[in-house]
Amino acid sequence: MSHQSALIEKDILGYLDAHENKSFLRFITCGSVDDGKSTLIGRLLYDSKLIYEDQLSLLESDSKKQGTQGEKIDFALLVDGLAAEREQGITIDVAYRYFSTDKRKFIVADTPGHEQYTRNMATGASTADLAIILIDARKGVLTQTRRHSYIASLLGIRHIVVAINKMDLVDQSETVFDKIETEYRAFAKTLGFETILCVPISALDGDNIATKSIRTPWYHGCALMPYLETIDVASDLNGQPFRMPVQWVNRPDHNFRGFSGTISSGTVRPGDDIVVLPSAKRSTVSRIVTANGDLPEASADTAVTLTLADEIDISRGDIICEGKKPAEQTDQFAAHILWMHDEVLFPGRQYFLKTANRLVPATVTELKHKINVNTLDHQSGKTLELNEVGFCNVSTSHPIAFDPYTDNRKTGGFILIDKRTNTTIGAGMIDFSLRRAQNVHWQDLEIHKPARAAAKHQRPCVLWFTGLSGSGKSTVANLVEKRLHDLGRHTYTLDGDNVRHGLNNDLGFTDADRVENIRRVGETAKLMVDAGLIVLVSFISPFASERRMARDLLEDGEFIEVFVSTPLEVCEQRDVKGLYAKARRGEIKHFTGIDSAYESPRNAELVLDTSEVPAPDAATTIVEYLESRGYLKG
Ligand code: ADX
Repeated sequence: MSHQSALIEKDILGYLDAHENKSFLRFITCGSVDDGKSTLIGRLLYDSKLIYEDQLSLLESDSKKQGTQGEKIDFALLVDGLAAEREQGITIDVAYRYFSTDKRKFIVADTPGHEQYTRNMATGASTADLAIILIDARKGVLTQTRRHSYIASLLGIRHIVVAINKMDLVDQSETVFDKIETEYRAFAKTLGFETILCVPISALDGDNIATKSIRTPWYHGCALMPYLETIDVASDLNGQPFRMPVQWVNRPDHNFRGFSGTISSGTVRPGDDIVVLPSAKRSTVSRIVTANGDLPEASADTAVTLTLADEIDISRGDIICEGKKPAEQTDQFAAHILWMHDEVLFPGRQYFLKTANRLVPATVTELKHKINVNTLDHQSGKTLELNEVGFCNVSTSHPIAFDPYTDNRKTGGFILIDKRTNTTIGAGMIDFSLRRAQNVHWQDLEIHKPARAAAKHQRPCVLWFTGLSGSGKSTVANLVEKRLHDLGRHTYTLDGDNVRHGLNNDLGFTDADRVENIRRVGETAKLMVDAGLIVLVSFISPFASERRMARDLLEDGEFIEVFVSTPLEVCEQRDVKGLYAKARRGEIKHFTGIDSAYESPRNAELVLDTSEVPAPDAATTIVEYLESRGYLKG
């Protein structure tokens, strides 16, 4: 679709040129169908003459048949088709509509308004310059108005239009409008918006949409469409320091070496000083190369290839920054995270964190508080659930280059990805680097793992016993340690029950606590391997993610997973500690296998069922495994 312009018939090339050079406004509409959201979008499309004549006559007849507006056109029918599709699960969660007027091109993200769709709204908001918050004049500022405004602010939207709709139903009352405007502005004070326009509209009748309405003579502001056509938002990214993540190194022959990417923010010119992160190497821009020839300057959202004055080493994923104002680098920072998945966020669990240019393993080390998106109150909590927002400390396994999200949405945002399923499960906005990260360095020690291992004449490793309570993990681990000890090997056993009396005596048995339990014991086991020991870990360790994390902490071959696969019925029958009986009576909550999950390993190095193999034989199998693979020599 394109808008209808007289130029199209007279001078098509002139039209295309003008169209090409028009500025873009990306905006999001927040509200529910009841607030008149679909009607408003339909009205905007109609008033910008985006509806072809045949669609219009269809709309008129449809309105008479199914519409809710009598003889009037029901603009909601234009967009509500989507809702039906959404119910059938056909469309994606965020629908983007493109339209243009003589002055500007628009992309509007249309997302459902209910609380359960917070993540969808965030997806639409993350690239929007402006949000239209719809308020029903009869209802005023509602909880959802506050939620929408907070999410818009969190996702970096700086321009708000509060469209106070259905003014026709409150007799175009200035008093009603003023009351809502005053209340909204008071609430929005803390949200850091640069501009707020409150406009009285009737999406249905078209008041103050394309032109000022004579029915609201007391309103002295701009009508909606002219405002959207003229509001200046472009400066936001261009005013920031120059950043360009390198997407690829363009090296067609020996004479040319350029770095290609899309400029995230700022402006670049030949002769500019730049610094490349993470290497911190410096140079000067020689040329800005594009398919249409060299440019004298380029700014945000432009895809370019830069050549530099010096031969410095740059690879994909590096970020080229303005020399005087480079991005920060850190591996620990505070961020707001919006959780987008049914499976909750556990502090301590490892995820992939993806920034504009890097993918690194990361964990939320602390959930400092949650923000109630409806009231903006802070609440404490151990996990984040679907659609919740938390303020967290995050730690990455390698430093990342970033700018605070409030300065730069492109270099300050990240997503979290589930390591096993590869799905996006959270979106984050970086607030600041934690000072402790800058002040804590690695101390270089002169005696390393190989030296300690050689002194003990063994190859250090972890035998990680996982399985249900009562499966025989500790019994077998104990027998293995005795045998190894008799062979003169240096060992240590970390046993769940024992470690929970000391290091982990602050942890219970919720999923969140188990994640932390295993994270700590994984780190401890790693230190012991570094000390040159053969470490026996005997923990239920019910979750695949944390067992994976423990494996990833170690080098190849150092982690030997022993799945003690004794079935639940047998463990329960044994019930050595009487805990299954208590769990069945409801006296213990979250008991593994009863009302708490156990995820069986799929690729354990050894699988032993102590209901089939006696414990001493299981121990023999394990010792033979170590012997045959050279762990006991050195
Ligand atoms: S884990 O799931 O976090 O790895 P861990 O191995 O440390 O558990 O501790 C398990 C031991 O705690 C069990 O052997 C049992 O003796 C005791 N225990 C007490 N309550 C529970 C419970 N709700 N679920 C499982 N084990 C429990």
